[in-house]
Amino acid sequence: MNVLRHLCVLVALLATLASGCGTPHGQPNKGSEVLAPTEILEFPTLYAENCAGCHGVDGRGGAAIALANPVYLAIADEAAIRKVIANGVPRTGMPAFAESAGGLLTDAQIDVLTKDIRSRWSKQGTLDTAAAPSYAPKSSGDAQRGDLAYKTYCESCHGPGGGGGSKGSAITDDSFLALVSDQGLRTIVIAGRPELGAPDWRGNLQRKPMSDQEVTDVVSWLASRRVQNPGQPYSASNYTQQQESEDAKRK
Ligand code: HEC
Ligand code: HEC
Repeated sequence: MNVLRHLCVLVALLATLASGCGTPHGQPNKGSEVLAPTEILEFPTLYAENCAGCHGVDGRGGAAIALANPVYLAIADEAAIRKVIANGVPRTGMPAFAESAGGLLTDAQIDVLTKDIRSRWSKQGTLDTAAAPSYAPKSSGDAQRGDLAYKTYCESCHGPGGGGGSKGSAITDDSFLALVSDQGLRTIVIAGRPELGAPDWRGNLQRKPMSDQEVTDVVSWLASRRVQNPGQPYSASNYTQQQESEDAKRK
């Protein structure tokens, strides 16, 4: 009895398979249909179409940090990365991608991006995360102590006051600080930008990695350099004012 039932199932299965083999003339072959954008679940396509423009081909970095940085991926966990992709980072160039946040990607697509960024680009055993600074700050920082940390760890490259030096660009520039979040700064201080030669938290000084607190403090110091109205000298209203005063002088 049981054998017979199994046989029936098998015959039914074969029949189903056989009927799928020959595509009737005039109908598209299986797999050749164009997918709706929300149905794409292949990481390379999702990444290339939505992320590569800023984070670089294959996560190698561009205007925004390299995501294929094993140190970054050892420190930022899945939840943190997913949250940023879904909701974006307000007041920075990082857009929100979740449909729920006004973006165009489904939850399933965001899952693929989050999981594959980690599985493809992280390296097991990159670092002992217990000894590394945490992704999110544990306390509020102290800008005054951060000034000292800056002089100790950063000034040799980024120059006095963060105004730029021969080995690193200006990082207290008001336009730069206006477009980067505190977490974005923390991420760069911890994970570096290896694709541009920026050291991670261990590489600023030989044999003297930054402590978690020093990372927090130096970010507070950078944040304290933000100005109320970044880019003001070039704003339209100032420009008009300047024009008017120049016109007045000419009269
Ligand atoms: C228009 C440029 C742009 C695009 C497109 C973009 N990003 Fe970003 N992304 C940024 C910027 C700028 C930041 C840094 C934001 C900040 O200051 O915190 C960022 C930050 C991130 C971070 C967080 C880094 C951290 O500090 O933990 C992740 C993760 C990320 N992006 C993933 C993605 C993924 C995945 C995509 C594609 C679905 C994407 N981004 C598309 C510009 C972009
Ligand atoms: C050995 C030299 C060196 C040291 C030390 C160093 N950096 Fe950098 N940093 C770089 C380089 C190189 C870059 C990438 C190119 C650039 O922006 O100059 C960079 C990039 C950055 C950026 C991103 C700038 C951008 O435009 O995206 C920030 C923020 C930054 N560094 C902060 C720091 C802080 C804070 C410290 C100290 C804790 C520090 N750096 C120590 C060399 C250094």
